[in-house]
Amino acid sequence: MQKSKNIKLSLNLDNRSYPILIEPGSINGEALRHLVMQSGSGNCVIITDHHLYEIYADWLKTLKVIVVKAGESSKDMSVYESVLERMVKFGISRTGAIIAFGGGVIGDLAGFVAATYMRGIDFYQIPTSLLAMVDSSIGGKVAINLSGGKNLVGTFYQPKAVLIDPTLLNTLDKRQWANGMGEVLKYAIGFNSAFFEEISKYTLTDIMNDHEILLSIITTCCKIKIELVEKDEKDMGIRNLLNFGHTVGHAIEAHYNYEKYLHGEAIAIGIAIKAKIAFEYGQIDGNELKQILDAIRQYELPVSLNERIIKDEAQHLLSYIIQDKKRQVEAIEWITIKKIGEVESKLEKNESIIEKISKELLRI
Ligand SMILES: NC(=O)c1ccc[n+]([C@@H]2O[C@H](COP(=O)([O-])OP(=O)(O)OC[C@H]3O[C@@H](n4cnc5c(N)ncnc54)[C@H](O)[C@@H]3O)[C@@H](O)[C@H]2O)c1
Ligand SMILES: [Zn+2]
Repeated sequence: MQKSKNIKLSLNLDNRSYPILIEPGSINGEALRHLVMQSGSGNCVIITDHHLYEIYADWLKTLKVIVVKAGESSKDMSVYESVLERMVKFGISRTGAIIAFGGGVIGDLAGFVAATYMRGIDFYQIPTSLLAMVDSSIGGKVAINLSGGKNLVGTFYQPKAVLIDPTLLNTLDKRQWANGMGEVLKYAIGFNSAFFEEISKYTLTDIMNDHEILLSIITTCCKIKIELVEKDEKDMGIRNLLNFGHTVGHAIEAHYNYEKYLHGEAIAIGIAIKAKIAFEYGQIDGNELKQILDAIRQYELPVSLNERIIKDEAQHLLSYIIQDKKRQVEAIEWITIKKIGEVESKLEKNESIIEKISKELLRI
């Protein structure tokens, strides 16, 4: 097989700039050991989850590792506190470092620990899920959840480097591949029509099996994210467009207690609802709507809730939209599809948004 080229990107933010290296086959036991020795003056700990620790035990067992439960429930105050305590036990000092080895949950949690432990220590992202490779490991948003909602405690804290090895995805299950494609579709539908055309040609099985296509998808997503983060690191303007599909998506995740739908699945429904509303209000035509919904289905993601819900449930789900942290006083910043490959942000009255979403949720 032809050896894929290594890709070196960089995210430029003055003294917080860092490389994003996409190198198939670059991460293994030896590489991890080397990174641990080189980082934080050799005073470095890896944070991962139980699931990954089981799979990669051979690489990790001789290193300093903090292991947390797999899944969204680890982005939690009590887990955060216990990780900090374990850092102290490991004797990690101010010159130490953290390596996040995992999906978006580990990246967000480990990044928040790194940002706050002893007022901030170095951290490195080694994303292992598709979602983390195309999105969460880049851009420095780190956070944990509160019972009132997702990512309510966090900060911006950039890593020293992001090391992406797509071959780590060989152990990822199919549902998690589709989960990552939820964010990929966000980039394609929201930001790049040529990219949308490209990914519309493939199915989930294609991208799981063809390393060249996968490499190209990861690289394009990283480039789109880099551009937006460089323009608006602190999410005061244009970066917010990356929340396309997320207001509805976060409400779906919260309504079902983060158990029923994965992040990327909820985002896919959020995007589909946006597309249906855009069609209804004449922003996109029937053909564009069909292309968007077909692409979401091609990647084995939902375009509506899996079950019919009654009005009361819809009201409960919608209440999370009003509570969402991005809420303005009476209006919500509402990201709509202008055409495939372009989204725009509008301030729209809460009631008007709720009415539109409610109609789509109850339609099925
Ligand atoms: N910070 C950001 O900018 C940003 C952006 C998007 C999403 N997020 C956050 O990311 C989180 C979702 O990330 P996720 O979907 O990666 O979830 P996750 O970290 O829970 O990973 C999903 C599952 O896949 C497993 N897994 C990961 N890599 C694997 C591998 N190589 N082989 C086998 N199993 C593997 C994990 O153990 C876990 O069970 C959410 O909390 C979301 O809010 C953050
Ligand atoms: Zn997301």
